[in-house]
Amino acid sequence: MEAYFLDFANLLLRWLHVIAAVAWIGESIYFVMLDNGLRPPKAAEDKNKGVFGEMWAVHGGGFYHNQKYASAPEKLPEDLHWSFWKAYTTWLSGFGLFMLLYMANPSFYLVNPNSSWEWAANLSGWQANAVALVFLLGGWVVYNEMCKRISPNMERDGILSIGVAVLMVVVAYLSTHIFAGRAAFLLTGAVMATAMSANVFFWIIPGQRRMVKAMKAGETPNPIDGKRGKQRSVHNTYFTLPVVLLMLSNHYSFTYTHELSWLIMVLFIFAGALIRQFFVLMHAGHTKPAYPAAGVALILVAVWIGAPSNNNGVATASTEAPAASGEAAAASDDTVAAAGSVGEIHAIIEQRCVSCHAQNPEHQGFTAAPAGVILETEDQLLRQADQVKQVIASGYMPLGNLTQMTDEERQRVASWTP
Ligand code: HEC
Repeated sequence: MEAYFLDFANLLLRWLHVIAAVAWIGESIYFVMLDNGLRPPKAAEDKNKGVFGEMWAVHGGGFYHNQKYASAPEKLPEDLHWSFWKAYTTWLSGFGLFMLLYMANPSFYLVNPNSSWEWAANLSGWQANAVALVFLLGGWVVYNEMCKRISPNMERDGILSIGVAVLMVVVAYLSTHIFAGRAAFLLTGAVMATAMSANVFFWIIPGQRRMVKAMKAGETPNPIDGKRGKQRSVHNTYFTLPVVLLMLSNHYSFTYTHELSWLIMVLFIFAGALIRQFFVLMHAGHTKPAYPAAGVALILVAVWIGAPSNNNGVATASTEAPAASGEAAAASDDTVAAAGSVGEIHAIIEQRCVSCHAQNPEHQGFTAAPAGVILETEDQLLRQADQVKQVIASGYMPLGNLTQMTDEERQRVASWTP
């Protein structure tokens, strides 16, 4: 019963998280579009008021006229609209989900028993939780320091962007080596998402408050606040699409169980940023299809790398065991136990998988078949054979190898032809 309520809490929190994220990202995309789509004002009186750009739009049966001031209007209205709760709600609900799903069960979901780094493979549950928190916080601290040191007056933002890109490669590499695959993708996305929310919380909103305060006192706002707000918003824009892709790819185990999962993740991140670049330029009136074309090319490389025939690792607990994909294993007969009949393979599945993957799982903490995968009968196994072979060959299942599947059993299932 308790597990049932936890699952329900998970669903509701996820709902909130997605709603807040949609609202935040939608608004952020809208404002970047608005900023890039501004045209010089037509009316002389607008120019005299200090309007620097305007946009006319029609939406939902109404006509809208947005104006942006070069610095600030002469007098600020009382009811200025601010945006920050969407960003904070997205982060808070996301962190809540992370605690509920991963930190409540770290040895299942955070620890990577197949890690080639021994210290990471041997982390205890609470250690893995601590490492995950340090990872999230560390990502923000390093990113923030890079911004402050490389481009303190926003004069070297180009070099900074390259630095942030390199940082994301490092984050992807570290996370896939430290954490279980699914958590690694989630945490890399969360490092970016944390930077986005922290940019709003620590820089963009406080900067805007200082600007408004100065204006109310009849002083000229410090231009650095505006420039820094812009710098961080630009980073946020390029983070959005990669973050969404990483959060979603987390439900597709072929991405994160691959031995080169860090590279697949890096390709996703750059593809997302390139596609975003296309829209940013398009709204400014420059259509440059080379950007999305390059993004799609990177995704195709990821598809190619991720293809099952390219994954040369039947992940095994002992590193010296032969690594072989289905085909390769079948070709070299000294490394392979004889492939079996459905009955023989199902016997292995029954022993190693069915405690979780049943209509009514016996395994503690599960109220329904995880991911909807039920493997109680040979028929069910046959229908899902490809997926079963994939998750076993990659070492993703059994989760955390809790049911202690042996390397020999793994090889047999991986090289089985249904
Ligand atoms: C301790 C419980 C547990 C055991 C044992 C276990 N699984 Fe899973 N399995 C899970 C959970 C939890 C998920 C959902 C994780 C996710 O969403 O990626 C899952 C997901 C899956 C999926 C779907 C993956 C996807 O891409 O969405 C497949 C297929 C699968 N398991 C097969 C197996 C097989 C085959 C075995 C036995 C070798 C096995 N599992 C053993 C808990 C378990």
